[in-house]
Amino acid sequence: MPESEPYTVAWEAETGSIVYIDQTLLPGRYEVMRCTTTTDLARAIRRLEIRGAPALGIAGAMGVALAAVRSTATDLDRFQDEVRRAGDFLKSTRPTAVNLAWGIDRAIRKIAMAASVDEAKALAVAEANAVAEEDELTCRRLGGFGAELFADDCTVLTHCNAGALACRCWGTALGVIRSAVAAGKNVRVISCETRPLNQGSRLTCWELARDGIDVTLIPDSSAAYLMRKGKIDLVIVGADRITQDAVFNKIGTYMHAVAARHHGIPFYVAAPVSTFDLSRREAEITVEERGREELAWCGERKLAPDDVKVLNYAFDATPLDLVDAIVTEVGVLRPPYAASFRFIRTGEESR
Ligand code: MRU
Repeated sequence: MPESEPYTVAWEAETGSIVYIDQTLLPGRYEVMRCTTTTDLARAIRRLEIRGAPALGIAGAMGVALAAVRSTATDLDRFQDEVRRAGDFLKSTRPTAVNLAWGIDRAIRKIAMAASVDEAKALAVAEANAVAEEDELTCRRLGGFGAELFADDCTVLTHCNAGALACRCWGTALGVIRSAVAAGKNVRVISCETRPLNQGSRLTCWELARDGIDVTLIPDSSAAYLMRKGKIDLVIVGADRITQDAVFNKIGTYMHAVAARHHGIPFYVAAPVSTFDLSRREAEITVEERGREELAWCGERKLAPDDVKVLNYAFDATPLDLVDAIVTEVGVLRPPYAASFRFIRTGEESR
């Protein structure tokens, strides 16, 4: 997005509130909204007004700051308890993207270290802003590493939106694409629409078109056929959580990975270290299930009979053996991942 645009989600110091771009309105309307309570923020996250793993991490940390600055508690123990409960409430809004809990925990840890309520408020706001600023640096750094995976002239398929709107700015998978374009490469993007909420058609196409990057929208179901016809050179997607054995990302990612492997096309994931959850395995992770209305209705138009059962997983898991590389801010990780993840654990410990 143009550099002069507001960030996807930001702390507004003058009002002590969170401002964000409402992603449910795009591409029809571009509106900046404000949250003044954690209840507002929880609603915005559940409705996907704020979405995408890194943006959820920033929103989570800012949600803790919001609970802190709005608290009227004067006793430090009561204050810390109140803010911790607000953090737990925010964590419950979306279970799969690990960044949400990660951002909340970072700000909560600062509050736990404070010697007074005022100090805790200042520390929480500072930490939330640090999470946001680091995210921009992280995206630009991983973008630079990932751009090296792109040929000088190539067509890349992406799924969902792992762009500026999913982060503070720049993006992870789209950050890599932006960095490749900035490095002078001729990149054409195929954006899957990403049913049922259309993050690909609504958000990825909007972002890339505004940046003047060549983007073509396809239905999710035509990806494998385009691979078969030799029209895709590589795939790159973001991630909501990376466990010891799998990458969780928007539903539909797994089928692209299977198709890419079948056609001998590289399948890459771009994600910050904050998305890694290496103490867990795929089977331990809760995959969010969303409401029937997302599948059974399109606005006012009914798309399914009233009595039909609906199964609406928001994410899927791609086994790591289908992933050719994971692009992070500390470099490009390659199989065998058990060995390359040792590097990430070291990164986690040093934070
Ligand atoms: O349900 P969403 O829109 O929050 O899902 C987002 C994704 O699956 C993204 O690909 C992921 O969070 C990575 S964003 C850099």
